[in-house]
Amino acid sequence: MRSGLFIDGTFDDGGARRLEVIDPATGDAIAEVIDGTPADGVRAVAAASAAQRSWAARGPRERSEVLRACWSTLLAHTDELAALITAENGKPLADARGEVAYAAEFFRWNAEEAVRIRGEMATAPSGANRIIVRHPPVGVVAMITPWNFPAAMITRKIAPALGAGNAVVVKPAPETPLTALRVAELCTEAGVPPGVINVTPTTDAAGWFDAVVDERATRMVSFTGSTATGRHLLRRAADRVLKVAMELGGNAPFVVFGDADLDAAVEGAMVAKMRHSAETCTAANRFFVESSVADDFAERLSVAMGSLVVGPGAEPSTTCGPMIHDPAVERIDALVRGAVDAGARPALAGGTVEGPGSFYAPTVLADVSPDAGIADEEIFGPVAPIIAFDDTERMVEWANGTEMGLAAYVYSGDLGRAMSVGERLEFGMVGINRGAMSDPAAPFGGMKQSGLGREGASEGIYEFCETQYLAVDW
Ligand code: SIN
Repeated sequence: MRSGLFIDGTFDDGGARRLEVIDPATGDAIAEVIDGTPADGVRAVAAASAAQRSWAARGPRERSEVLRACWSTLLAHTDELAALITAENGKPLADARGEVAYAAEFFRWNAEEAVRIRGEMATAPSGANRIIVRHPPVGVVAMITPWNFPAAMITRKIAPALGAGNAVVVKPAPETPLTALRVAELCTEAGVPPGVINVTPTTDAAGWFDAVVDERATRMVSFTGSTATGRHLLRRAADRVLKVAMELGGNAPFVVFGDADLDAAVEGAMVAKMRHSAETCTAANRFFVESSVADDFAERLSVAMGSLVVGPGAEPSTTCGPMIHDPAVERIDALVRGAVDAGARPALAGGTVEGPGSFYAPTVLADVSPDAGIADEEIFGPVAPIIAFDDTERMVEWANGTEMGLAAYVYSGDLGRAMSVGERLEFGMVGINRGAMSDPAAPFGGMKQSGLGREGASEGIYEFCETQYLAVDW
């Protein structure tokens, strides 16, 4: 296990401060890594800046081949990376293995995109000159990544950034630095030159960010995390008018019409809700179910949620791992208690689980009011609140009545109805009769306060590019 800061292609174990990495399944410390300082962030920016020009000067095909080597190298280390992810994040091993495949795929996808960055040429309307538009790399990108996908949320950013010719400085979540450090090391083994990827874990997120943002070489900030933190980073990035990409919170509605195939809806709900132990920003957060099937759906979902095996992610039988830490459990429990006090009926009363470890058993709440507190908060845990509806117009209003706009899901036997409701939902991603949407080939991102910009698809790589226009006198 690596413990040093990864700067300029080598591990630096010299720092005085250490941060402990905790296994959420036991509460025990499993490792210590260097706790970076703001000065380490500045050093990392300097290393990135020194490496960036020559990386950008390589041909797109050459960069593409390196990305493709990262893809195969990560996949070749699936077992090792999955074990690290489970150890520090807690998710079940099967989910962790799935995450490694997902994380690696961002490299393969962007290896293909790196050779397809387009430009334009036109004749100026006056006929006097040509207009040439090209997309050079933005420069050094500061990246702040969350703990819920310790590998994939990093590769989703670094693969397109590197494909476009940038160098990066990553601050992984302090809860999950081990995967980040190992991913950076493996990418270096795969051919990424020293300095192009730098990883500096730290518990001093504010100090690190202030120092990194103020560095002249830093040209962009890419963040995945809460909307509250995103707002702060946006304000601070504005001081230097930096380019930004923000993947922020969600509050996904999951709509089930009375004519839906309920078995398929429950199957989709289990994916949309419980993927990665329900700690995803795309997680179904509010279930709007037509009254005619609301009780039936609640019962079937309770059976499915109740059959999950709660336990340490490393146990092969576990299908719902621990939450990231105790404060997360306390927050989830307070939301559930608030909903029950306000009249919700526990159709599956899971709740807190005796320690050690930070567990919360799957819970289904029926008869939830659309204005209950739990319907306005991102739960980030295995709780499914069900709100019955009769009137589609009101349901669409309720679904859209949030500042968030990341993911939404609609189930109906009438595809036309599902599509027309889907198009009216103010969310960046809508699953129609489908609970899984995440795909490096699709544009991931939110409307409203769920974010700015898109990751993946063909848009993803352009987020890390500038637009330059050359007026050429032919
Ligand atoms: C997230 O929860 O931040 C990302 C989820 C995904 O990529 O599916």
